[in-house]
Amino acid sequence: MDTIHAIPALRERIAGWRARDESIALVPTMGNLHAGHLSLVEAAQSRAGRVVVSIFVNPMQFNDKDDFAAYPRTLEEDRRLLQDHNVDLLFLPEQAALYPKGLGATTRVEVPGLSGVLCGAFRPGHFVGVTTIVCMLLNIAQPEMALFGEKDFQQLLLIKRMVRDLHLPVRIIGMPTMREEDGLAMSSRNRYLTPEERSRAPLLYQALRRARDIIRNSHGGCDFRALEDDSMNLLREDGLRPEYFSVRRASDLALAGPDDRDLVILAAAWLGKARLIDNLRA
Ligand code: PAF
Repeated sequence: MDTIHAIPALRERIAGWRARDESIALVPTMGNLHAGHLSLVEAAQSRAGRVVVSIFVNPMQFNDKDDFAAYPRTLEEDRRLLQDHNVDLLFLPEQAALYPKGLGATTRVEVPGLSGVLCGAFRPGHFVGVTTIVCMLLNIAQPEMALFGEKDFQQLLLIKRMVRDLHLPVRIIGMPTMREEDGLAMSSRNRYLTPEERSRAPLLYQALRRARDIIRNSHGGCDFRALEDDSMNLLREDGLRPEYFSVRRASDLALAGPDDRDLVILAAAWLGKARLIDNLRA
């Protein structure tokens, strides 16, 4: 597996593949790869002739400098995993290549509305950073498809909306959340948990399942707002610090009403130094 740092070199390599009619899939990541990322790689390989994985810890999407500095960087291990998975190419851009004028002076891509709710309300500027970097990566690689995990449900929806609004010629594919055996959604941030916190971390997923079961058993008669309050209290009693627990319409993340059927329950909660997020369709 080759590693390419420069944008022109990446374009040249991809142009060669395209000239041979090979389809290209991009899997954008921030590294510290786990089984969730590798499931995206496998899904990409089953759909496209060539798979490019990018690793870039994107400073624009961190609203907290310390969080950016502390984000786990495990390049050698990542490279080995990608090599073992027969990935065609690792794109490892330098910050100066992507943001030559600096972060503040770079054009931004913002999806209005959707980027300000849920995680966006607690992490100001985060989703502008995400859509900006994903738009850049899609323009640089120009893949037929790009794959993202459903664990970041809001992120996935925002990226789909951006692609639609800006008429970008790429198919965005969401893949199911990968979980540990006890239900905890896989995430690079799980490594911030102490062993004691790690044993309690599945409580977030359990709260989502409980809420989903209550919604299903209510046959359309559920008071979503009461269920949200109740779930927040349960998480607090369990020692988590929830930011939100919310029942939303899956298509646009509007607050779910009694007539809505296609629902997603989304939650974010702090446990020690880790900010956990998860979601479940109801
Ligand atoms: O989900 C992530 O790892 C990041 O937000 C992404 C999509 C790679 C953009 O930096």
